[in-house]
Amino acid sequence: MSDQTPSFPPPTVPAEVAPRLRAGLIAANYTVDGLDEILGDRASAALHRGQPLLALRQVRESAQPAATLARLWVFNDPVAGEDLETALPQVSADELVDAGLVLLVDGQFVGTCDLRPYGEETSQWWVVSDLGENVVDGPLPTSHVLGVGGASSTLASWTPRPGVVKALDIGTGCGVQSLHLAAHTQSIVATDLSQRALAYAQITGALSGLSLDLRLGSLFEPVGDEQFDLVVSNPPYVITPRRDGVALYEYRDGGMVGDGIVQHLVENMADRLKPGGIAQLMGNWETGPGVSGGDKWQTRVSGWVEGSGLDAWIIQRQTQDTAEYAETWARDGGHRPGTAEFEQVYVDWLADFAERGVEEIGFGIITLQKPADDRPAWFSAEAIGHQVASPVGPTILAGLRARSWLAHHDDAEVLSVPWSVASDVTEERTFIPGESDPSAIILRQGGGLRRAIQLDTVMAGLVSALDGELTPDQLISGIALLTEVDADAAKASAMPVLRGLIADGLLT
Ligand SMILES: C[S@@+](CC[C@H](N)C(=O)[O-])C[C@H]1O[C@@H](n2cnc3c(N)ncnc32)[C@H](O)[C@@H]1O
Repeated sequence: MSDQTPSFPPPTVPAEVAPRLRAGLIAANYTVDGLDEILGDRASAALHRGQPLLALRQVRESAQPAATLARLWVFNDPVAGEDLETALPQVSADELVDAGLVLLVDGQFVGTCDLRPYGEETSQWWVVSDLGENVVDGPLPTSHVLGVGGASSTLASWTPRPGVVKALDIGTGCGVQSLHLAAHTQSIVATDLSQRALAYAQITGALSGLSLDLRLGSLFEPVGDEQFDLVVSNPPYVITPRRDGVALYEYRDGGMVGDGIVQHLVENMADRLKPGGIAQLMGNWETGPGVSGGDKWQTRVSGWVEGSGLDAWIIQRQTQDTAEYAETWARDGGHRPGTAEFEQVYVDWLADFAERGVEEIGFGIITLQKPADDRPAWFSAEAIGHQVASPVGPTILAGLRARSWLAHHDDAEVLSVPWSVASDVTEERTFIPGESDPSAIILRQGGGLRRAIQLDTVMAGLVSALDGELTPDQLISGIALLTEVDADAAKASAMPVLRGLIADGLLT
């Protein structure tokens, strides 16, 4: 269906040209900040929403070199030869044409790909991918290589980033996750089923001065029996009907039935992680009478982890019913509602869910960790829909460490540590008018996963007295004496809340 839209071959930038191109992009101030300055907040926000017109107007009105480069490589807007030369004198137009980065059409240059600045606080990178939906007429080709999207940013934000030796980026696409990995990893293996994607990842890496070990193949195939300290994947997890007429977009569809690709990654991850290694994955999962786990998503995903020996922390961020899901993905790739093709694909999607007894789809993030020793693995699956502090990676890493520590220590040991309350924690009490006792006591975490935890008065008393000197053991014994309750029973009933507060970093 969508293979009719022509796409250019991915560029091949010679090793000798890449550093000059990079220097030229920097000199042109074609950076995240440089482009933001030209676009302004309103046009930037519109562009992020997928509406390029305001932003295009801004770059056309600007004489800055970065504006010329954005016209070329973000908006596919033709640029005169002299403007290109002024904006990027470090690389000749002939070299850009030879590299397949631009094309001469009717005496003007047009970009053949999307090449845009990308970065985080301390890093400036450029990401190269296929021209986006905004500038391509009609449906995208099924071999389309995506640029940085919402799921890419979510995974980058949620990935824990300890300094490690060896990382694996499965389904690297344009190479965005590898850029982030480069900041804290000695060597990176980046894989993809698509040769086209690997070509883009190579250029993305080269422009940022990285050398990636790029390998072609499906899922774990290209890495044999190698093991990694960190595995990241924003896999093609979109649940897609396996029917004639429904296009198989490589960037979103792993070719399996239902949520099989995420299941496959989870079930096979243990062998690819070194002891202590971590995997961070994006995923979708199905619930409903026809799938294992029924309407309990936690049961479904726990089935994938069971027996793997891995710790698992799974956070569901949102859900969609099957109709919302079908609408989103039938529309994706530039398909317009109202066309016969859209309607057919939409119907196919709904029929697939109905036939397989699926009612709802969960979206979330899966963190797996291989215990460094023979301690028992832990499992946690929870829904967190609210906004959390970003980047989330440091919180995930701290949470993994705290949970692993807890798995190593029994209740008596936990009770004998002089915990203190983290500095971002506040207590909130609500009162029914006229009452002197609070109707609710809530502990609120300012950062991290922004937990709100309801405490009873005994736990609230305990938490308020934890100042890094006295232990829960001492404090609960004291409270039990005063209130004439059994100290051992009070300690046992405090344990689940106490462990939860430690796991989530409210107590440090
Ligand atoms: C959603 S994109 C993610 C791209 C990029 N890592 C990011 O975070 O934006 C999924 C990528 O997986 C690749 N892919 C599809 N099927 C695959 C498979 N079986 N094995 C490995 N990669 C696959 C696609 O070509 C695509 O580049």
